[in-house]
Amino acid sequence: MRSTDWLPVQGMSDIAAPEVFLWQELESRARRIFRLYEIEEIRTPLIERRDLFDRALGESADVVRKEMYAFADRGGRQLALRPEGTAGVMRHVAGRAGRGAGHRLFYLGPMFRAERPQAGRRRQFHQAGVEFLGPPDPVADAECIALQVHLLREWGLEGFTVRVNTRGAREDHAAVSDGIRAALGPRLDDLCPDCRVRAGSNPLRVLDCKQPRCGDLVETLPPVTAWMKPGAAEYLEDVLALLDRLGVSATRAPRLVRGLDYYRQTIWEIAHDALGAQDALSGGGRYEIDAAGQTIGGVGFAIGLERVLLALGAAGVRPERFRRPPDAWIVCAGEGLAPQALPVLQDLRAKGVACGADWTGRSLKAQMRAAGRSGAAYAVVLGEEEFRRGAARLKRLSDGAQADVPLAELHQAVMNECNAFRGHPG
Ligand code: HAM
Repeated sequence: MRSTDWLPVQGMSDIAAPEVFLWQELESRARRIFRLYEIEEIRTPLIERRDLFDRALGESADVVRKEMYAFADRGGRQLALRPEGTAGVMRHVAGRAGRGAGHRLFYLGPMFRAERPQAGRRRQFHQAGVEFLGPPDPVADAECIALQVHLLREWGLEGFTVRVNTRGAREDHAAVSDGIRAALGPRLDDLCPDCRVRAGSNPLRVLDCKQPRCGDLVETLPPVTAWMKPGAAEYLEDVLALLDRLGVSATRAPRLVRGLDYYRQTIWEIAHDALGAQDALSGGGRYEIDAAGQTIGGVGFAIGLERVLLALGAAGVRPERFRRPPDAWIVCAGEGLAPQALPVLQDLRAKGVACGADWTGRSLKAQMRAAGRSGAAYAVVLGEEEFRRGAARLKRLSDGAQADVPLAELHQAVMNECNAFRGHPG
């Protein structure tokens, strides 16, 4: 075995203790928030037909053109690992009569993009995403942004900024593209090589190029609303006014475009200073997607969980804090007692007591150390003498206080104390 064979594929990570404690905490808080907004969970496959993404995200989008893990399976079918969640959700919705307008869905799970890995940019990463189905409505858009801010706060994040813009309605698209193309036409040589191509194929994408030379040029262009019908700017103003009423601070970002073709009307990004170059914590917007012969509209967002973890780490949040220790730890005081201890352990678990044990035959002292390390409130010490009396020695690990407790009352004794602990505000 080569020495690096234990590593996962480049750009992908194992998520194990202690980090996984924080992941679990984020997921459970997200589920709690989604329940408050009446959003149902959906779990779509990690693999979809490739053309779903080609059509929904747009063949000129970087995510499709450069970053998709696309392959043919053994039957020659063209498939792809999902680079994002919205297209698959819309495929699902297209196949379910009655799952349209008014439905709200959320997903938590891995996505795949063949990008160059760096901090906050992985090839397998995880999104918490939400889709509200329904026709364009500033109220739904504002609620969706407010939900996202609610969730980020629930996760303990501060110091993020919400930047909002519009892509206009479907019928504005051609006018905006033509307007940008015409404005850039005489100055193509000032653009980076990628943007020279984009200026022809998808001129909107020039607006969010990260190259300084393109940024300087873009600064001189009028805001995109200049090429749209007046309705688009009014729609955006309605969303911003609602956010203001909700106390959600959001700034106008006239050059924000978002990288996927399905967006219409409101688009937004939430950035966080702690993230450096990859500062987008989350992105979203209103969209129209053609899936399975239907056009489905909605508004939604996805938050990158790896980036949330980076921002929390920078704020000093340590994952160890979210570890959930067992209530009790079984300790065998004598050799060969495990077969008698196991039924006691299983009985406690059946009654709802979280218990650990160590069967590796270590000394009493080593087992007590393991009990302490586990963070359990109690050690349940079982020896020959205890078994004869049908009892256990219950040792409270915080102060070493001990008591003999009949086996039948053991779970009650542990639970009382643990509940007292749990109920304590400190
Ligand atoms: P997106 O902006 O492509 O939007 O991705 C959303 C978030 O996923 C980003 O803001 C970022 O936090 C995270 N992310 C993206 N790529 C990576 C990566 N390579 N490594 C780590 N994190 C990453 C979408 O995916 C849309 N489907 C969002 C949406 C839902 N719009 C409407 N509904």
